[in-house]
Amino acid sequence: MFRVTEFGKIRAGNFGTPFFYYEQCDSTNVIAEKLARQDCPEGTIVLANEQTAGKGRKGNEWFSPPDKNLYFSIILRPEMDRLKYIPYIACLSVIRAVLESGIYGDLKWPNDVVVNERKLCGFLVQTAIEEQELQFAVVGCGINVNTTEFPESLRSIATSVALETGRAEDRERLLASVLLELEKLYEKIKTAEWEEFAREVEEASSYIRDCPVKVIQDGRTIEGTTQGLDALGGLKLLTAKGEETVYAGEVLSCRRK
Ligand code: BTN
Repeated sequence: MFRVTEFGKIRAGNFGTPFFYYEQCDSTNVIAEKLARQDCPEGTIVLANEQTAGKGRKGNEWFSPPDKNLYFSIILRPEMDRLKYIPYIACLSVIRAVLESGIYGDLKWPNDVVVNERKLCGFLVQTAIEEQELQFAVVGCGINVNTTEFPESLRSIATSVALETGRAEDRERLLASVLLELEKLYEKIKTAEWEEFAREVEEASSYIRDCPVKVIQDGRTIEGTTQGLDALGGLKLLTAKGEETVYAGEVLSCRRK
């Protein structure tokens, strides 16, 4: 069980008010989306101790056993032109929070945090846009915290805070830290220039510049070397046919130099 009272004592800032806690639910993103449609305020958090139908990107299921990890969704209502910053501040907030435990997270485009190429955290950002206006964004975050045994299919590609540090992590402390970092970054991007922000993102990522990658987008594989982020938040690639920018997709492989 997640210790809600403990969390209440150590949390700071406004993100996490109101706070909805479920011992078990299907998906915190589904619940947060309903709350957002009922006008729940920015900063609302839905946290579950266990998800029975945790949603990952590309229709994948997110591994969500009880008592181990963090599964939460936050409601944000940014201006439309700030939307491109959101996946990146989400990753940066986790990278900063786990650094307090001595873990060097790497931002893997578009919105994963990996450690030595194994996934520590993933985000699922869902938006509602009406007449070119952003109604809300639900940012769903899954952080592998204390799982030490993954199912066979994930064993070689996933990691957790506990596996990286060799000790159990306090989920309440980690959540408080992620939310505080996220809130600080969210304030910052309200006025931040994209170019400067993009440089900060690139510094947090070994994938975004000068990295040979394969990106799979709509079933098509694009091979190239990364050239940084473009003005819309896409990943620029130098391919054999010239420059190409991808706005969605998955980095399949990265051959380290
Ligand atoms: C990914 O595939 O990398 C995205 C994973 C996102 C998982 C989180 S867990 C909390 C929130 N609720 C969900 O159903 N999904 C997100």
